Amino acid sequence: MNTEELKQKIIDLKNRLSVTVVAHFYQRDEVFEMGDITGDSLELAKRTMADDKEFVVFCGVGFMGQSVKILSPEKRVVMPKVACCAMAKMIDGLYYDQSIAKLEEAGIKADDILPITYINSDAAVKARVGKMGGMVCTSSNAKIIITKALGEGKKILFVPDRCLGQNIARQMGLKSCVIGDGTDPKEADIICYDGFCSVHQLFSVEDIEFYRNKYPGILIAVHPECDPAICERADFVGSTSQLIKYITELPANQKVAVGTEFNMVNRLRPSNTYILSSTKPECPTMNETTLEDLYAVLKSIEEGAPINEIEVDEDTAHWAKIALERMMAL
Ligand code: 13P
Ligand code: SF4
Repeated sequence: MNTEELKQKIIDLKNRLSVTVVAHFYQRDEVFEMGDITGDSLELAKRTMADDKEFVVFCGVGFMGQSVKILSPEKRVVMPKVACCAMAKMIDGLYYDQSIAKLEEAGIKADDILPITYINSDAAVKARVGKMGGMVCTSSNAKIIITKALGEGKKILFVPDRCLGQNIARQMGLKSCVIGDGTDPKEADIICYDGFCSVHQLFSVEDIEFYRNKYPGILIAVHPECDPAICERADFVGSTSQLIKYITELPANQKVAVGTEFNMVNRLRPSNTYILSSTKPECPTMNETTLEDLYAVLKSIEEGAPINEIEVDEDTAHWAKIALERMMAL
């Protein structure tokens, strides 16, 4: 079957079944095209909650499908590929507990910590955060969530992305540290876990210098998962949706070099848009999902035996939902 035939079969299946295909901006173009709902992680979570079809077919990474299942337990959520975001993999329940223990050893009581987890994390981490009174954030709303959390007068533990935590702290004029970096966490307002996104780590100060020298006047726009040294030097730092808005609203002749995932940047503007790295910044897990996988999962629904269905145990789902709903309420 060629690509066009496969796409047609997918469209036919979508028309026959009670399904909504959801696709993150980082998906391959041909998969993204099949999405009924497309967006960044926050938009997808919100818009999928409001959807009324029996099945959500989520083309993205595991924590995204899991979040939909937690927020809408009545929906059946299946994923063409249950691929795990590399950053989300860097922390689990055990490492979360150990981080709290390290802060206690450093003289900070657990009661004085308000945890915030980036949505790029497993349900077990979200559940622990929910139990401790904390909440989830995405890169679109991290500043709002941290502002709200600061109002409680506690130390913020931010997991798992140290870059997002440090970048927001810098923007807000707050002190941050990374667990294990030798700084006394008692001195910091935001204590970050030492996780990161390997894709967004690809962008370097040399890349920025290269483009600024080659094209004077070029703008540099990056995602806040990039290292603080990159974000400090950029003209614009924003989440996936914020980057799309910024870049697509630039005058057509304005050059811009973008530091985020390849597939998304590649479909933004026909000209004057550059990828801020000579190494292809493609997210390997987002790219695992193929049209064949999407077809196979839809076929399995039609045959009454859905594959790759997302399940979350009741206790974990209960507390993780509380952490997610605290975010949604803001
Ligand atoms: P968004 O929240 O911007 O969709 O980002 C998710 C992600 O994984 C970025 O690397
Ligand atoms: Fe995870 Fe990075 Fe891929 Fe985003 S780009 S899904 S943070 S590995």
